[in-house]
Amino acid sequence: MTSHDVVIIGGGPGGYNAAIRAGQLGLSVACVEARDTLGGTCLNVGCMPSKALLHASELYEAAAGNAFANLGIAVEPRLDLAQMMKQKDASVASLTKGVEFLFRKHKVEWVRGWGRLLGEGRVQVHGPDGSIRELTARDIVIATGSEPTPLPGVSFDGQRILDSTAALSLPEVPEHLVVVGAGVIGLELGSVWRRLGSKVTVVEYLDRICPGLDLETARTLQRSLTRQGMAFELATRVAGASVESDGVALSLEPAAGGPARTLRADRVLVAIGRRPFTRDLGLENVGLQPDARGMLANDDQRSSVPGVWVIGDVTSGPMLAHKAEEEAIACIERIAGQAPEVNYRVIPSVIYTAPEVASVGLSEEQLKAEGRAYRVGKFPFSANSRAKINHETEGFVKVLADERSDQILGVHMVGPNVGEMIGEYCVAMEFSASAEDIALICHPHPTRSEALRQAAMDVHKRAMQA
Ligand code: FAD
Ligand code: NAI
Repeated sequence: MTSHDVVIIGGGPGGYNAAIRAGQLGLSVACVEARDTLGGTCLNVGCMPSKALLHASELYEAAAGNAFANLGIAVEPRLDLAQMMKQKDASVASLTKGVEFLFRKHKVEWVRGWGRLLGEGRVQVHGPDGSIRELTARDIVIATGSEPTPLPGVSFDGQRILDSTAALSLPEVPEHLVVVGAGVIGLELGSVWRRLGSKVTVVEYLDRICPGLDLETARTLQRSLTRQGMAFELATRVAGASVESDGVALSLEPAAGGPARTLRADRVLVAIGRRPFTRDLGLENVGLQPDARGMLANDDQRSSVPGVWVIGDVTSGPMLAHKAEEEAIACIERIAGQAPEVNYRVIPSVIYTAPEVASVGLSEEQLKAEGRAYRVGKFPFSANSRAKINHETEGFVKVLADERSDQILGVHMVGPNVGEMIGEYCVAMEFSASAEDIALICHPHPTRSEALRQAAMDVHKRAMQA
């Protein structure tokens, strides 16, 4: 039996950030992780490998299509998929090793194996070598993450019907990839394979893509992806699938009911959301019960059981790595007696398609539902000089501000690099800035960031470049 101040179950962005923060604060800490590598979903099979493929495939398409040629760069590219996968795997390995290094630096003990709650303050670990070890701690942090939600009748088989992990490592480019679910994973991984040569059809149950995203922003993204060749079947239900020797036959029905039709695919990616992961965790041994969605109730990272904390995808809120990180730091600081706070109103989200989409705060639909009076400031990249000179004029910056106080309530952007640009508005919102505050700040010329200022100016209809 080994005793620690804190035992963390799960070594993803929630777990590893919690472990490192605990080490920094001088707590004795162990992190139990069942995978062979640290970093969780994000580093191993999520954020990082998907961004590696998005980056490489975007450059490939620029070279293979007209983008390079139009700039006067003549190339004859050839896809080397094996090398593309190899560089992705190498980057992932270097990132997961980086977390191991940080564990050593901050004296975090990585306990390899499956963690199970045995009772208050007690965790049992089944090691990969068959060993069984018991850890005790005053505080236990559950950071076990999430897993893909399965679709009844369209079961994952890893060959023809894929989850996101399988879709990150295909051995060849599918001729026709059908993506079920027009959410973040479907659009990002759909983009990767379309750029590499697949015909991609996205089937979505709702009559729009990316539910939750500001509607005008979602429609702009859909128009752009359609122009690129991605096909959308909205308001459509996948009623079943039969795997055949040369592909999959999907049975599609209108969501509102009606006759079924068949859609054939070489491979199907099912990406209809993720669900919290608490299987075989021994929750019953401490008296914790997940809610109807499988989530662990959470109030300031506390569960309903004293000394048991929950952070990241396994609990409520957006399933994002930086949200898990915020909760991790706050949770450990709270354990250490500090009074941190996570500001859930300012958690940005980015879809790494081309163009990118970046959002923070409330959408127009949410403001309307809340009955709040607001003003809209909007600035198109087609009026931004840097975007024009680079031939990258798609998209806009849209700022939503309170009609009376002018406080910024939400920001939504579509365009190249907006994922890097949204940070400015996160800072502004953390400081409760008004649209006028941003409108008064000098931005460098010529940069795309001028559009951030112009959109704020447009809230009061005084944009200069429109
Ligand atoms: P996880 O990262 O899932 O980590 C949980 C860990 O716990 C896992 O390693 C698991 O093996 C381990 N574990 C579970 N149970 C046990 C147990 N009983 N014992 C021991 N170990 C256990 N988010 C972003 O912000 N940006 C992105 O660009 C982005 N891209 C994504 C792309 C894809 C394809 C996917 C699938 C997800 C993406 N996400 C992205 C979401 C992001 O990966 C998650 O929000 C994040 O990983 C959540 O962190 P976590 O620590 O809560 O859980
Ligand atoms: P999602 O919630 O983003 O999208 C799922 C989509 O599937 C929705 O549009 C939904 O309406 C649709 N859907 C649900 N049931 C369906 C059905 N039966 N038939 C057809 N469509 C159906 O979930 P996704 O894309 O699986 O991603 C999971 C999580 O991973 C997200 O919550 C996201 O936060 C995270 N993620 C984040 C990324 C980023 O930050 N860039 C990248 C990838 C994932």
